[in-house]
Amino acid sequence: MDLTRRPRRLRQDGLRELVSETTLEASDLIAPVFVDATTDERVPIESMPSHERVPVDQAVARVEEVLATGVESVLLFGVPESKDAEGSRAWAEDGVVQRATRAIDAGTDATVITDLCLCEYTDHGHCGVLEESADEEPSLTVHNDETLARYRAVARSQAAAGADVIAPSGMMDGQVGAIRAELDAAGFEETPIMAYAAKYESSFYGPFRDAADGAPAFGDRRHYQMNPANADEALREVDLDVEQGADVLMVKPALPYLDVVQAVDDRVDHPVAAYNVSGEYAMLHAAAEKGWLDLDGVAHESLLSIKRAGADLILTYFAEDVAERL
Ligand code: PBG
Repeated sequence: MDLTRRPRRLRQDGLRELVSETTLEASDLIAPVFVDATTDERVPIESMPSHERVPVDQAVARVEEVLATGVESVLLFGVPESKDAEGSRAWAEDGVVQRATRAIDAGTDATVITDLCLCEYTDHGHCGVLEESADEEPSLTVHNDETLARYRAVARSQAAAGADVIAPSGMMDGQVGAIRAELDAAGFEETPIMAYAAKYESSFYGPFRDAADGAPAFGDRRHYQMNPANADEALREVDLDVEQGADVLMVKPALPYLDVVQAVDDRVDHPVAAYNVSGEYAMLHAAAEKGWLDLDGVAHESLLSIKRAGADLILTYFAEDVAERL
């Protein structure tokens, strides 16, 4: 037995950290924040322990809590005061995200990333406007190109409110190009796009849909979000988003899709983001509540693994807790 090679040598205290290949820093993390126009008090989100929907007048206070942990960036989601078939409160100048963005921009140094989608704003809960489908079975589908016109309006209004980054999450074809053109025409050439490039039709979004009140009223999202069976297709999506001017490419969810994170990182020179979604957060909390897992340990290990796979940035509900312990 040849024991000249002993990997354990480098696992000794003082050496283990020195040869560590991956690091996790607060500046890599983005904390999702929910702003709710239907409440004047903070409302705890039951399926996402320690997260809340906050009224617009608490948005700055909420973001200050995030900043106090060392996390510098937030991803804003809005629950509007009312919904309609088009989702028109998504691009209102006095919309919930627009008002919150203005306040956070004026009151803090946080980097504000705004999620751009219609599902929280439409009364049917889909990510775009609907059309009667051509099949003989009458059904409704999301109209891609009509939806792009609305996304352009949302992008312009979010940038005008002071958003630092626009993050389109609706998975319409051509959404990055449409938003890029709109931002450029409106004088926001310097506002980057973080594209939800490979976003899967995932069952891990359940708790988020409670949090943001964005569950589809009928059907599901399988005709626009990606099939979990596909990885090659993620690279086609990423290539299209790069061609259309995306600045950061996102994979979502994260842990069940680390192969995709790695493939995207290999494919592009752009920064890669991964979204550690609500279900990934909720399941660790649920197991920890039962005493089956150590929450701090599994949270840290999850984020470290996402970085090891190739993500530069992580959107995660663990951002504050993990950053505080770094
Ligand atoms: C909006 C959107 C969703 C999430 C982020 N943006 C919901 C969805 O696509 O159904 C999910 C986030 C999470 O689960 O943490 N389109």
